[in-house]
Amino acid sequence: MAKKRIAVLTSGGDAPGMNAAVRAVVRTSIYYGYQVLGIYRGYDGLINGDVKVLRKGDVANIIHRGGTILKTARSQEFMTKDGRAKAAQVLKNENVEGLVVVGGNGSYTGAMKLGEEQNIKVVGVPGTIDNDIYGTDYTIGFDTAINTAVEAVDKIRDTADSHSRLFFIEVMGRHSGYIALYTGIGSGATKVFLPERDDDIKAFIAYLKEAGRRNKLFNLVIVAEGNTNGGAAEMAEKVKEVVDMDVRTAVIGHLQRGGAPTASDRFLASKLSYNAVRALIDGQTGVAIGLVNKNIVYTPLIEAITKKKEPEEGIIQMAEILSL
Ligand code: F6P
Repeated sequence: MAKKRIAVLTSGGDAPGMNAAVRAVVRTSIYYGYQVLGIYRGYDGLINGDVKVLRKGDVANIIHRGGTILKTARSQEFMTKDGRAKAAQVLKNENVEGLVVVGGNGSYTGAMKLGEEQNIKVVGVPGTIDNDIYGTDYTIGFDTAINTAVEAVDKIRDTADSHSRLFFIEVMGRHSGYIALYTGIGSGATKVFLPERDDDIKAFIAYLKEAGRRNKLFNLVIVAEGNTNGGAAEMAEKVKEVVDMDVRTAVIGHLQRGGAPTASDRFLASKLSYNAVRALIDGQTGVAIGLVNKNIVYTPLIEAITKKKEPEEGIIQMAEILSL
């Protein structure tokens, strides 16, 4: 009789720590007597049958690597019912009993529909640098991304200080301000612009004028890409028009998505994925796994997708107080 199988895929934007997640899925599944099917290029690969059995050795020497050995994609075809039906057929032909999806919000939506429409057992593992998934304190990749961003801002600080310049530094996060907020706190920025706050740039300009009077010689401003005032370049233009300061910009961009995962991301990925496999084996489906106050929690995918996760007000306030 064919061996029972668990499948794993990574989907959406890659995140450092995804490899540690894949490794944990493979090793845990094998321990419990399952064979593992690795699906390449996310849902697109699933639809096209781009799959391979992964053995223990296939995931050796990957825990420290950024990116994802399974590759990833944002699939248009999977957004259609036909696409999902094709994907489900591949899983059924391959004798797969359950699927672990490592990804963000869009990937969870796909997983939920696959479960509901096609009767496939699915568990979601939060893998995104944005940290915007409800049902977990942190997502895989966030810690690495903020460490990369803080390191970059530290370097910009040196040159900003030497030239007495004002820098607008744009970080990722899509509609979420987590990366910007934690980068701002970690790098001691003057100001953080978040999508969660409707901060008016005019108030900041007034502050700059006042800070100029106090001889504050350089300023680091962290701009979340989703904030309401536009990107770093746009904000710099507005400031240059009215404040006599030497203004520059930097966009950290995809640097934040690459690099070796931090120890914290490797641990989180291992713990979440190990428990995701155990949840599937225990018969759970349609849930996202998360770590809340150090405890493993299972959140229905519909809740993980629809409930908004935002930085705590207290942390935002703290960032403001510490930058005064
Ligand atoms: O979701 C992760 C993320 O890096 C966001 O922060 C960013 O907005 C987006 O993906 C960029 O996507 P892409 O790499 O497809 O341009």
